[in-house]
Amino acid sequence: MQTDSHTYNQPDPATEARVEALLAQMTLPEKIGQLVQLNPFGPFDPDEYDRQKAEAAANGRPFTYIPPLRHDMEALLRAGRVGSFLNVMLPGVINHCQRIAVEESRLGIPLIAGGDVIHGFRTIFPIPLAESCTWNPPLLERAARVAAEEASASGIDWIFAPMIDVARDLRWGRIAEGAGEDPFVGMAMARARVRGFQAADLSSGRRIAACPKHYVGYGAAEAGRDYNTADFSERTLRDVYLPPFKAAFDAGAGSVMSAFNEISGIPATANPLLLRAILRDEWQWPGVVLSDYEAVHELIAHGLAADLKDAARLSILAGLDMEMVSEGYATHLADLVAAGDVPLALVDEAARRVLRLKFRLGLFAQPYTDETLAETIILRPDFRTLALEVAQESMVLLKNEDDILPLAPPTRLAVIGPLADSHADMLGCWSLHTHPEDVETVLDGLAAYLPADAWRYTPGCPIRASEPTDIAAAVTAVQDADVILLVVGESADMSGEGHSRTHLGLPGRQQELADALAATGKPIVCVLMNGRPLVIPRLAAQVKALLVGWHGGIRAGRAVADILFGAVNPSGKLTASWPRAEGQIPLYYAHKNTGRPAAAAGVKQFAEYFKSVYLDEPNSPLFPFGFGLSYTRFAYSDLRLDPPTITPEETLVVTATLRNVGSRAGAEVVQLYVRDLVGSVTRPVKELKGFQKVTLQPGERRAIRFELPAQALGFTGREMRTVVEPGAFRLWVGPDCRGGLEGSFTVEEAHRRG
Ligand code: BGC
Repeated sequence: MQTDSHTYNQPDPATEARVEALLAQMTLPEKIGQLVQLNPFGPFDPDEYDRQKAEAAANGRPFTYIPPLRHDMEALLRAGRVGSFLNVMLPGVINHCQRIAVEESRLGIPLIAGGDVIHGFRTIFPIPLAESCTWNPPLLERAARVAAEEASASGIDWIFAPMIDVARDLRWGRIAEGAGEDPFVGMAMARARVRGFQAADLSSGRRIAACPKHYVGYGAAEAGRDYNTADFSERTLRDVYLPPFKAAFDAGAGSVMSAFNEISGIPATANPLLLRAILRDEWQWPGVVLSDYEAVHELIAHGLAADLKDAARLSILAGLDMEMVSEGYATHLADLVAAGDVPLALVDEAARRVLRLKFRLGLFAQPYTDETLAETIILRPDFRTLALEVAQESMVLLKNEDDILPLAPPTRLAVIGPLADSHADMLGCWSLHTHPEDVETVLDGLAAYLPADAWRYTPGCPIRASEPTDIAAAVTAVQDADVILLVVGESADMSGEGHSRTHLGLPGRQQELADALAATGKPIVCVLMNGRPLVIPRLAAQVKALLVGWHGGIRAGRAVADILFGAVNPSGKLTASWPRAEGQIPLYYAHKNTGRPAAAAGVKQFAEYFKSVYLDEPNSPLFPFGFGLSYTRFAYSDLRLDPPTITPEETLVVTATLRNVGSRAGAEVVQLYVRDLVGSVTRPVKELKGFQKVTLQPGERRAIRFELPAQALGFTGREMRTVVEPGAFRLWVGPDCRGGLEGSFTVEEAHRRG
C-alpha cells in the first residue's frame, strides 16, 4: 500500500504570494544568503574533543563529539547570509543555529537542514543496489519512510537521495548507491523512494524533501573512475540517464543535486542544456537545483572557469540555484550583479525557488525539532523488522547445485571467511551513523538456528592482503565439517564515493582461501557480502551454492541465516549484469545489436571471426540482469497479446500464467521485455518495460497481466524528440533478461486501420 506523500511541484498560489511578499523585502545579500549551503562546523579541535569526552565519562553518558561552530557562523546566520546546512545530524546544534536564523536575523528566514541518508539513517538497510534487487518498490517506499522518520526526528528537512544514476560500469564504486543498470528499474525505485522520504505523516509532524542526485550522467564516468569525464550522446542522455529523474519529479521531488562530472565538455553544474533547457523549459519543473559538494569551485579544475568568481557566474547563468560549500555565490554573486554580469532576475528566481521549498516544507511555521523525539524513534523495533525484510528480499541466490540449500540442521558447519563476523562492513558505504554494534553478522544469525557446538568459525584471511592470513588453519578447521560456509567479499570502504576498483575479483587473498578449501573436496556454500557485482567465475565454479548477501545493513546476518536454513525462500534478482571478465565492462543487457552481432549460442562465439565478439570469452555475462534463483520453481505458460496490433494511442494487454511447480511457497519477479525490430535510429536488443513480484504457494497458479501503453515504447528519434514509431516488436515475459515466453505485436498508425 502506498503512503500519502507530499509533492513539491504542484502550483500553490498561497505559497507563491508569501514567497513574493518576502522576496520584496529582501536585500541582495539576503537573497544570495538563501543560495548558500554550508557546513557550520569549524576545524577539529583536539582540546575540545578531550574536554567533551571527559565530561561525558564523568556524567556516564555515551560520547558524541560536537565540533565547535565555525568562528563566523553565528554572525553569518544573524546577517541572513546562510540558507542551508548539510550533514549536521545533531538536532541540538540545528536548533541552536535555527534559533539565531529565525529569531535574530532581520527577516527570520529559517534554515533548511540537508543530509545524506542513503540507505537508512540509523536503522541501516542494505545498500541501495541491493535494495533494488528486491524488485519491490512498495517495500522500498516503506524503507525510505523509516529513513525519513529517523532523519526528521534528528532535525533533517532535506534528504540528499535517492541516488538514481544509471550505472553500467562496476568499477565505479557508486554503483552501490543506485538501482543498477536499467532506467526502467531506476524509475520505479526513484518513485518509491521519493514517496517514502516525502511521506505526509511523519511522527515528527515535520516534512522531508527528497533531493534526487546526481543530475546527470555521473554513472557514465569513463573507465568507472569516480568523477571522471562522461561523454555520451544527447539521445543516450534522454533515453537512459534522464528517465529516473523525470520519474522522481513526477513523484513530487522538489529539488535535485547537480553532478560533479562533465558531459561532452560541459560540467553538469554549469550546463545550460541540463539545468535550463531540459529542467525549466521542457519539463517546466519549479524545484531547487543544489550543486554537489564544492562542484562550483571544481569548475576551475575542470578548466571551464578561470577562478571562483567566474565559476559562480557560469553556474548561476546556467541555472544552478544553491551552492554546496564552496562559497562562490557567497563571495562573488553580489559583485557579479553589481557589474551587470549576472542579471538580478536570476538571483531572484533562485531565491524564489529556495523560499518556495522552505514554505512548502512548513519551516516558517515549525522551524524547530523536538530534541526528545529521536530517542523514541531511532531503531524502533518495527524499523528493525523492516530492515530484516528488506535484507531478506534483497539477497540473490545465483547457484544452488544439487539443491544444497536450504541447509538441513543438524549440519556441522565450518564457517570460514573474513566477512562472517564483520559488523562494520555490513553497514556498507554512505552510512554516516556508524554504529557497528547495531549489526547482526552472519555468526549472530547462525546462532538463531544452530547450537554453539554445531559450528565453528575460522576467518582464514583478512578482506585485504596486508594483514597475516591463516589459510592453513581454515583448511584444518573444515576437516570434520559436513559443509563449508564461506563468507567473503568486499569491505564497506571498497565501494561508494571515490572508491572505484579495477580488479573486481575477491580482494586480498580470499580467492586463495577459496582455492584451498575447494581442494578439500568438501561442499562449499558461499555467501558474498559486497558493494557491487564482482567478477568471480573461478569462485562460482568452485562452490555448490552462491548467495549474494551484499552489504546488507544491520540485519544482514540474520537475513543470510534465514535464507540458508530455509525460513525464507530467496526472491532477489540482479539489477546489474555480472560479467565473466573485467574486460567485458560496460556490460548491460539493453545493448545494441551492431551490424555484426554474435550468434545466439554463446560458446560458438569463440569460433566466429569478424563478428562483434571477443577471442577469449563469450559476450554473455556470468549472471544476467534479472536473474536469481528460488528454492521453488516457476513455470510460465499461455502468453497472449491483445490486440496484436495497436496504434500509438492504444495499450497492449499482455497476459500469461505463472505456476509454482515446486514444493515451497516462493516469490517470482515476472519481467516483461520488448524489442523494437526496426527504428529510425537503432534500438536496444531488449528493454525492460514491466515487472511484477508475485508470491505463490506450491501448486498455485496466477494469471499475470501487464498493460503496455504504446507510449511506453517511445524513444528519442532522429529529430531529438520522443517518438513512438510504427513497426514490428518482439516481446518476452519471463524470469530474467534472457527470454521466457515470446510473442510479437505491431504498432500501426491509426489512419492505416481505415
Ligand atoms: C556526494 C554527494 C553528497 C554530498 C554531500 C558529495 O561528495 O557526491 O552524493 O550528497 O557530497 O555530502
